[in-house]
Amino acid sequence: MDSIVVTGNGPLNGDIPIAGAKNACLTLMPATLLSDEPLTLTNAPRLSDIKTMTELLQSLGAEVQGLQDGQVLAMSSHDLSNLHADYDIVRKMRASILVLGPMLARAGQAVVSLPGGCAIGARPVDLHLKAFEAMGADLDLRDGYVHAKAPSGGLKGAVIEFPFASVGATENALMAATLAKGTTVIKNAAREPEIVDLADCLRAMGAQIEGDGSPDITIQGVDRLGGATHRVVTDRIELGTYMLAPAICGGEVTCLGGKLSLVEAFVERLDAAGISVEETEKGLKVSRRGDRVQAVDVVTEPFPGFPTDLQAQMMALLCTAEGTSNLEEKIFENRFMHAPELTRMGANIEVHGGTAKVHGVERLRGAPVMATDLRASVSLILAGLAAEGETVVSRVYHLDRGYEHVVRKLSSVGAKIERVRGE
Ligand code: EPZ
Repeated sequence: MDSIVVTGNGPLNGDIPIAGAKNACLTLMPATLLSDEPLTLTNAPRLSDIKTMTELLQSLGAEVQGLQDGQVLAMSSHDLSNLHADYDIVRKMRASILVLGPMLARAGQAVVSLPGGCAIGARPVDLHLKAFEAMGADLDLRDGYVHAKAPSGGLKGAVIEFPFASVGATENALMAATLAKGTTVIKNAAREPEIVDLADCLRAMGAQIEGDGSPDITIQGVDRLGGATHRVVTDRIELGTYMLAPAICGGEVTCLGGKLSLVEAFVERLDAAGISVEETEKGLKVSRRGDRVQAVDVVTEPFPGFPTDLQAQMMALLCTAEGTSNLEEKIFENRFMHAPELTRMGANIEVHGGTAKVHGVERLRGAPVMATDLRASVSLILAGLAAEGETVVSRVYHLDRGYEHVVRKLSSVGAKIERVRGE
């Protein structure tokens, strides 16, 4: 397994390009199953999760072609030859559950493996299933699979009220509702930019959707959807991640393509910590106001709140802040696995259930550390950028799921970082 070796190397300066959003692409790709006409995605990120989704769609009979080195995905699912999403693929990536709604809506039936949990939590899909039942589907859970069947006349429009603004459940219900008979209203829907991006793409395909980005989304079902070409929205989590590099090291970095509207709650916390963010025509220009950031409290919430996917990276910044910061993780039950690794680097962190208390120290010291999940892995790299000496981050396959060209992007602004091939 490969490792990444980072050595503290002073301020960073320059531009970092930000790719298309992994979590938008992973819901836009299954949308091809809703139509027998071609759906083309541009600005697609080149990530292992995208390869896994490609493999899954191809196993269902869809055609997925990566063009221009994978930045363009040309897809079409003229014939869905297989309605069985196998555990072997689904277990590699939980977002695979997002093929269930489109298959039910287009083909009237589907057998999809339950995704199982992951390092950060149990990750149930009960809200997805409740939404399909509300639309008239008959669901039978057995042998680790969901055996789903729509009514003979197809899914029916329904009022779906989520107890929690689940991103995936909103995406699955939204896609299924586009072809349901009648009107569907999703109440307490997730409001993430990836939801709006999906709705934009579905509208380009002919769907009738209103209210995306607000808690209430209304969908008028249509008989069929056509093809479209859609540009994947900028990845706000990659954006926030790289904004933290100059915040931690000093210097001035512009994250190309960044927009304040994608990261408002995050930027509000950065500003409170002493980091300047300016939106320019190129993107978001970031610099630290003084030599040391101030401690701030963080609570993760559904959008437009502070994103849980930036919690680990923010902790890396706060490890050397002046004062004590409290980070409350309210989305996932086990998302502080980066804390013991940061402690190995000299951080002073107390974790009690869903809250981590970070007592700022002057400077971290490089150490061998282990990546445990996607966002934890990049948090350790960020911490290593300003630590004294060398940090070796192992198990970086986690990183490849969500970040393309990390070494190239950080080296281009002056970081001392390299990838070492493992056995
Ligand atoms: C999406 O996961 C993202 N993944 C996650 O990003 C992100 O952390 C999460 O949304 C929250 O923003 C993709 O988009 C592929 P949820 P998702 O449904 O859809 C509970 C990353 O690092 N829940 O909003 O699974 C669930 O257990 C990944 O890129 C239920 O209880 O998130 C969790 O505690 C990590 N029942 C909470 O809700 C359900 O049916 C949030 O889940 C569904 C969810």
